[in-house]
Amino acid sequence: MMDNKANSLLTVPLGDLKVSDLALTDAGVISQNLLLSLVIPTYKERDNIKNVVRILSQLLDESIPGEYELIVVDDDSPDRTWEVAQSLTEQYPQLRVMRRQQERGLSSAVIRGWQAARGHVLGVIDGDLQHPPEVLTQLLFAIQQGADLAVASRHVEGGGVSSWSVVRRFLSRGAQVLGLVILPGVLGRVSDPMSGYFMVCRNAIAGATLNPVGYKILLEVIGRGKVDKIAEVGYVFCERKEGESKVTWKQYVDYLHHLIRLRLSTGRLGKFTQQVNFPIGRFLRFGLVGLSGVFVDMALLYLLSDPTTLALPLTRSKIIAGEIAIFNNFLWNDAWTFADISMQQQEWRQRLKRFLKFNIICLAGLVLNVLVLNLVFNFLVPNRYIANLIAIAIATIWNFWVNLKLSWRVTQVK
Ligand code: GDD
Ligand code: MN
Repeated sequence: MMDNKANSLLTVPLGDLKVSDLALTDAGVISQNLLLSLVIPTYKERDNIKNVVRILSQLLDESIPGEYELIVVDDDSPDRTWEVAQSLTEQYPQLRVMRRQQERGLSSAVIRGWQAARGHVLGVIDGDLQHPPEVLTQLLFAIQQGADLAVASRHVEGGGVSSWSVVRRFLSRGAQVLGLVILPGVLGRVSDPMSGYFMVCRNAIAGATLNPVGYKILLEVIGRGKVDKIAEVGYVFCERKEGESKVTWKQYVDYLHHLIRLRLSTGRLGKFTQQVNFPIGRFLRFGLVGLSGVFVDMALLYLLSDPTTLALPLTRSKIIAGEIAIFNNFLWNDAWTFADISMQQQEWRQRLKRFLKFNIICLAGLVLNVLVLNLVFNFLVPNRYIANLIAIAIATIWNFWVNLKLSWRVTQVK
């Protein structure tokens, strides 16, 4: 079936998650600037989408007729939400629909929607009617009064949650406190940093490359945008009537990952890591993997050499334990620390080659470790434990750096 232009799906933008200035977008050129572009991310919202579009359209037709657009960004829902949404575009000409098939995730869906947007103000609202639509007019008003960002908040006057269990309230607040500890400069600026209901001026985020993980897009906007003035409007998070929440334990892991990534890449620490051009995130993962290797090594040494277990000779035990620890570390580094690179080189021969290189480099690291220990102990610090710590640190950096350059090298040739 051939779609006519007015009714076709939006093309999914590619490349960096970066919103451009209105003047630079194709939409700007054909002077179709709008006041507001409201993105509705959806995944399996077939039973909600029609009501959402109807209610939002009614409301905005009253307050800003002809000056807004609704953009549904659906991640190829198996219930075909995108199809239902698309079928509504005839009745609601201000509605546009994007169906993403290559990428996944709430936050990136929102940004892809904004990239296709034509509005001066960019907004987001959930597609399940848990965010009360009436609040939209207050958010827009706050922006028109000069705010760069207007956030609907559960934790200011007039806000709340309808009937959350004690557990969910606790988890939500716990996540917020954790965020305040890791990233006070971002989370401390708003009362409800977990909110997925807000509006932001395009020029506050235009040109910034966003890099979110998971659900919490607002962190990204505050952390990487140029947001000066923030306004908050209270709202009550309603219960879902149709469909179900997509939140699982994975969202909590993603959230933590997101916090750490923002912490390392923004602010003073971010400037520093950019200047020295050191992949600090990778290094931390490499270090954690190394730590896991210590436990593997210890446990095996006990199993093999302890008089109460196998009672094998110490040297032989240590060689086996060490080698298995190296194998352990390799697996984790390949699957996690350098996952992006090993994904591109998945053949068994390539894997084996990486493992051999890793092995040799780690053995060289061990030699270095012994050398440094002796040097430091004999000439610098006459304390064997401090000297050993220094030796371990140097050997770790060596292991990391050489493996980065040799084992997990991005080669263009296939
Ligand atoms: N495109 C896309 N891709 N949409 C998604 C995805 C995804 O991977 N996952 C969820 N969504 C959509 C849902 O369809 C819904 O419209 C909205 O995002 C929120 O998802 P829910 O699963 O309903 O989340 P919630 O009810 O727990 O809400 C929490 O997250 C919101 C984030 O916007 C709360 O923390 C809210 O305060 C917050 O507003
Ligand atoms: Mn929801």
